[in-house]
Amino acid sequence: MVASEDPQKHNNDDFKLEKIFAVKDKVALVTGGGTGIGLMAVQALAVNGAKVYITSRSDEKLDRVRDTYGQNIAGQIIPITADITSKADIKRLVQEISSKESRLDILINNAGISSKTHQTEAESAEEMSKNLFDPEDATFEDWVETYRTNVPQLYFMTTALLPLLQAASEATPSWSATVINISSISGQVKTPQHHFAYNASKAAAIHLTRMLASEVAANGLKIRINDIAPGVFPSEMTAGDSGANQKSHIPKEKFEGKVPANRPGNDRDMAAAVLFAATNQYYNGQTLTVDGGYTLQAGR
Ligand SMILES: NC(=O)c1ccc[n+]([C@@H]2O[C@H](COP(=O)([O-])OP(=O)(O)OC[C@H]3O[C@@H](n4cnc5c(N)ncnc54)[C@H](OP(=O)(O)O)[C@@H]3O)[C@@H](O)[C@H]2O)c1
Repeated sequence: MVASEDPQKHNNDDFKLEKIFAVKDKVALVTGGGTGIGLMAVQALAVNGAKVYITSRSDEKLDRVRDTYGQNIAGQIIPITADITSKADIKRLVQEISSKESRLDILINNAGISSKTHQTEAESAEEMSKNLFDPEDATFEDWVETYRTNVPQLYFMTTALLPLLQAASEATPSWSATVINISSISGQVKTPQHHFAYNASKAAAIHLTRMLASEVAANGLKIRINDIAPGVFPSEMTAGDSGANQKSHIPKEKFEGKVPANRPGNDRDMAAAVLFAATNQYYNGQTLTVDGGYTLQAGR
């Protein structure tokens, strides 16, 4: 639409929600799509018409998500089991998707784990050292395991899928395929929130997102790479468990006074962020923080 001499000529149709947030017929892959934030992303895309492949280590969880949320919707949910910390599994996953699809429009690297927690508050150097160094579960292995699951998988998943992502951009005018890494406000706040290893891994995930976005752009590829940094959302990680429908619950009261929103994040908060990051063609190399004001209170 260009400037016109005709005062009646307008482009109002371009502003309709279904055009701006259009994910119909997009092909997507969501890792850790069986629970928590991953499941929210899966629903946001599939309910609005995308064909969404979901992956995690548990075929039971994935099948349940397909059976519960994949019926009578505009899109589809298709499970493929894989461990995203294994290069061989990533290769198999990419081969399986490549055998069925000529393109991948949206990759959401959501799978992640938390690390062990330790008391940080102390009244002396000795006490602080005892709290953080001495516990048997304060190990290099915990740091490495957390890092392995939360950081290098973003690199290997993204780099393995570059050809399918670029093919999506080339197949669709005015569309650039996109990678959305789920990082965390834990990688932004100054406090370790009692889990140093997790927070350090999420800070690394944020920087890795920017490095990947930068290199992909420098090589002339048309793939946007961003991350979403959620505050607290209900999931198996934060609530400890999920129900028969794979959803988790955090009581609202737990957050009263602790975050400006006075509640944890919910499905719609995450769906809006996912649809924005997936469809906004001018959004690249950024961290989208969705936290109810958590970082305002905790400080970066
Ligand atoms: N919930 C929050 O408040 C919050 C806040 C900020 C960031 N995040 C981030 O959001 C992401 C999703 O976490 P969540 O909170 O929704 O927790 P969740 O319910 O525990 O989900 C994590 C998912 O990752 C999958 N996963 C873990 N390791 C995997 C592996 N090696 N291979 C494949 N899949 C794997 C798990 O499935 P399987 O066990 O079946 O493999 C699970 O579905 C994580 O990156 C987390 O750090 C969460």
